[in-house]
Amino acid sequence: MQGVTGEAAFQMLNRANELERQGRSIIHMEIGEPDFDTPAPVVTAGIEWLKKGATHYSAVPGIPELRQAVARHLSEQHSVSIDWKNVIVTPGAKMMIFSIIHSMVDPGDEIIFAAPAYPAYEAAIRMAGAIPVPVRLEESKQFRFSLDELARKITPQTKMIIVNSPQNPTGGVLKFEDLERLGELARNHDLFILSDEIYSEICYGERPASMLDVPKIIDRLLLVNGFSKTYAMTGWRLGYGIVPSDTFSTIELFVNNSVSSSATFTQHAAVEAFTPETSKAVNDMVREFQKRRDVFVDGLNSIPGIRCQKPLGAFYLFPNISGLGKQSVEIAERLLNEGGVAALPGTAFGGYGEGYMRFSFANSLDNIESAIERIRHFVTTL
Ligand SMILES: Cc1ncc(COP(=O)(O)O)c(C=O)c1O
Repeated sequence: MQGVTGEAAFQMLNRANELERQGRSIIHMEIGEPDFDTPAPVVTAGIEWLKKGATHYSAVPGIPELRQAVARHLSEQHSVSIDWKNVIVTPGAKMMIFSIIHSMVDPGDEIIFAAPAYPAYEAAIRMAGAIPVPVRLEESKQFRFSLDELARKITPQTKMIIVNSPQNPTGGVLKFEDLERLGELARNHDLFILSDEIYSEICYGERPASMLDVPKIIDRLLLVNGFSKTYAMTGWRLGYGIVPSDTFSTIELFVNNSVSSSATFTQHAAVEAFTPETSKAVNDMVREFQKRRDVFVDGLNSIPGIRCQKPLGAFYLFPNISGLGKQSVEIAERLLNEGGVAALPGTAFGGYGEGYMRFSFANSLDNIESAIERIRHFVTTL
């Protein structure tokens, strides 16, 4: 545990809350969760299933109804037919990431991942005794990576490549040709791909490419997704993986020995996430995110020293702040204390995040407009 750090978003949230308790006004842009309510049909089903007594352990990999609903939903969206027996449910996608890495990776294995990255990948890799090998997501490539650079990082010790698209923290989206090339690399070098697609339905423009549409990859693809972001269900703790048949029992064994199962009533409630009424709520939420994104990006770009791309997915901005002439940790610290805006330094997502900040735009337009003015004023004081 000495080699890992916690997720900075939770630490920043605690500090921002503490300042608020002292009477300060803080605009929260640190934590990665939709500010929308969970869609009503899911909430109603959760209450009903509690009353019906769905309060006991479930089967380790999840209730069949939810595993079948997930398989149906993804099979409708993609070119593969997913067998529900390959679906495994965990309390949150983060637990799925941990379960996969701990089940599949040996000490000393090298795991390549695109960075700056969601910090749980590196933490899980280190906790498994494996070696994290970051490959840089480049601002000049709209936060995609160079596949040649990635290929150069493959060694005989490489076991797995982790990709996340749409991406946290940059909002970048990989193209289908990137994923096809990754598939080729994985086949040629006998590697697994962990594709974290938790933001797959939070996108602006065309639907992001999915590893599920890449031919001849399903036997080495560990797909991670969940309910937290798309259905504003962060507190329900529900995620899932689609894993190859020959890895299923090992991953199930890890889940068995760590969490036993996910909560039963939340799984029943989540079946309702795949209905037309819920899909409309998701579309409305994404449309609202898009408006906020546009206002926030334009606002940040009007501030000297800040340069911000328009993200194609997720609900984060990852502006380049190197023009402010200070390290990102100092900017985040002072922006909280002096400017009243809680956001994360790019380095919360690894060393490649230096020179950037991450702002979540899962906040009201009014708050986003106030945040822009607070940041504009703060920058004049540097
Ligand atoms: C890229 C990515 N994957 C996984 C997760 C974990 O989500 P969950 O709440 O389902 O554990 C997050 C949450 O921030 C994330 O950003």
